[in-house]
Amino acid sequence: MPVLRDFFIALSENQTLNKAAQKYGLKLGAQSVVAGTTIPEVIESIKELNAQGVSCTVNNIGEFVHDLEEATKAKEHILETIEALHENGVDAHISIKPSQLGLEIDFDFCYDNVMEIVGKANEYGIFVNLDQETYELLQPTYDLMDQVAQTYDNIGTVIQAYFFNAKEKTERYKDFRLRLVKGAYKESANVAYQDKIDIDLNFIELIEYHLLNGKFTSIATHDHNVVNHVKQFVEDHGIPKDKFEFQMLYGFRKDLQEQLTAEGYQFCTYVPFGTDWYGYFMRRLAERPQNINLVTKQVFNKKTNTVIGLAAAAFILGRLSKRNKS
Ligand code: FDA
Repeated sequence: MPVLRDFFIALSENQTLNKAAQKYGLKLGAQSVVAGTTIPEVIESIKELNAQGVSCTVNNIGEFVHDLEEATKAKEHILETIEALHENGVDAHISIKPSQLGLEIDFDFCYDNVMEIVGKANEYGIFVNLDQETYELLQPTYDLMDQVAQTYDNIGTVIQAYFFNAKEKTERYKDFRLRLVKGAYKESANVAYQDKIDIDLNFIELIEYHLLNGKFTSIATHDHNVVNHVKQFVEDHGIPKDKFEFQMLYGFRKDLQEQLTAEGYQFCTYVPFGTDWYGYFMRRLAERPQNINLVTKQVFNKKTNTVIGLAAAAFILGRLSKRNKS
């Protein structure tokens, strides 16, 4: 399984395939995990989820932002999305990826973009979550949040349980609304747990800590064992249902999403949209290669199978030649 995980992560970082996927758009069938390419489409998806009692966090997917112009475009699109959420009066907040707003290019430029977004959202009482990405962006993202939080309080971030410093960060940011996750990227053994069991145990520890000591907790997982543990834990400790929510990604474990909502738990679906769906989709396969079952028939036609087959062969050959060299 680790080979498959590395394979899909490598695919998620392939810019040529990303460009090709943009051209084909959601025609390939990615609509089962991506809620449309345009703002009107995503608003419709949010309305449907809201009608089922589900709140949403909306993400304008953006990958491979290389220059200030692309980052500015991304910011404008996010501002338009916030306007649309407000105008339509839907129950939704925003999730943004700092890399999309230029964090890897220029910190101050990215800070100005995030301030504009959080300021606009603040006018409408909309919360903004700073998604966490790779280790290189971890501290800069905390720095962004620290600085923005000096002006606005409608901001929070994500703690990735695979990092050794996750507990320290959860304690430091306990007064923020936090989304707790296991972590989606491939990280070095110098900074992150590699074994599932260690990650799962740390995840549970962080969830319990923040539920007992922190502000609002978003428990973002598709893992029914974690969900069941949380249900028991909140009951044992008398933690009210308005202090936390479960979050899952759009299109995944719909049965469990419905069940939790029916049981009266607050539930929030992460709703990604946009033409840049490819890297997002590959990371979902890296997390759980069986996810391919959800989408195979729709996404992979003859043409994409060929592209992915070639990429897989190149990747495996690359690994083999590396192994032979070492
Ligand atoms: P995991 O993948 O460990 O699965 C555990 C078990 O659950 C599986 O063995 C299986 O039994 C069951 N299971 C899982 N998925 C299933 C499915 N689709 N169908 C049936 N059974 C299933 N990451 C990050 O680094 N930064 C971020 O900002 C975010 N944000 C984020 C938001 C939201 C709402 C979610 C749900 C996740 C993220 N993530 C993230 C991704 C996260 O870090 C993590 O990679 C994935 O959620 C996968 O881990 P899980 O905890 O879901 O279970």
